[in-house]
Amino acid sequence: MELKDTIALVTGANRGIGQAFVEALRNAGVEKIYAAARDTATLAETVAGGGGRIKAVKLDVTDPEQVRAAAALASDVTLLINNAGVAIFGGFIATGDLEGARREMDVNYFGTLAMSRAFAPLLKRNGGGAIVNLASIASHVNFPIIGPYSASKAAVHSMTQGLRAELSNQGTQVIGVYPGPVDTDMAKNFDVPKVPPAQIAEAVLKALAEGTEDVYPDPMAAEIHGNLLHDPKAVEKQIGEMRPE
Ligand SMILES: NC(=O)c1ccc[n+]([C@@H]2O[C@H](COP(=O)([O-])OP(=O)(O)OC[C@H]3O[C@@H](n4cnc5c(N)ncnc54)[C@H](OP(=O)(O)O)[C@@H]3O)[C@@H](O)[C@H]2O)c1
Repeated sequence: MELKDTIALVTGANRGIGQAFVEALRNAGVEKIYAAARDTATLAETVAGGGGRIKAVKLDVTDPEQVRAAAALASDVTLLINNAGVAIFGGFIATGDLEGARREMDVNYFGTLAMSRAFAPLLKRNGGGAIVNLASIASHVNFPIIGPYSASKAAVHSMTQGLRAELSNQGTQVIGVYPGPVDTDMAKNFDVPKVPPAQIAEAVLKALAEGTEDVYPDPMAAEIHGNLLHDPKAVEKQIGEMRPE
């Protein structure tokens, strides 16, 4: 995909990896960036630094009406970055109720699905374009300290494969991104080495340019992915040592 002529929409653009995507796209010289956030006031600085190329969009990906409105407003999009996500630390059993697990499925899986459904016809009309889904290395092996989150990201991975097949005949490139720990609010209580969010954004822009489908953007993700190909049960056992409190 040629980045210069791209018109992008980034969900969860107000902080963390989403904000890094907006900065990387701006630096790459893309034509227009729709920066989407639940509270557009949090985008003021980003929009001000965009030289007129960054537009704020109010968007909660779990709100069907807001998803519809975003698609109507940003009908010229050629690159959809499904970045918005939530993570609630805890296990499947060692957690009070199902609320957190439902919320993670709602935002991470159904939010990404709703956005993909709303924007797929627009991408087709605009020449094919691309969808980038932020999954996680936890899509491929369950991390018990974030058990239900891992399950929601496994669902995102499966959806990404299905979307890729389904949208291949309209020329839409579909990229799955599988990071390890990234230095954002989401991972602030996870005491492990983390990479800066800009590293994820740069790896994805490179993948878009080169046509790579699966992105393992940091050393931990690349190592776990390599080990999974070699001995998946050993990886499951090793990661399984990280149990919830
Ligand atoms: N950080 C990591 O270690 C890591 C690793 C692998 C994958 N990821 C994935 O990368 C993506 C970005 O994560 P991050 O680390 O940047 O997290 P973050 O710093 O916690 O930011 C999450 C972003 O998602 C937005 N969001 C949450 N619920 C939303 C909703 N219902 N509708 C629209 N936006 C919503 C948040 O908006 P508000 O400000 O309004 O809450 C925020 O902009 C996520 O999909 C995450 O699962 C992160």
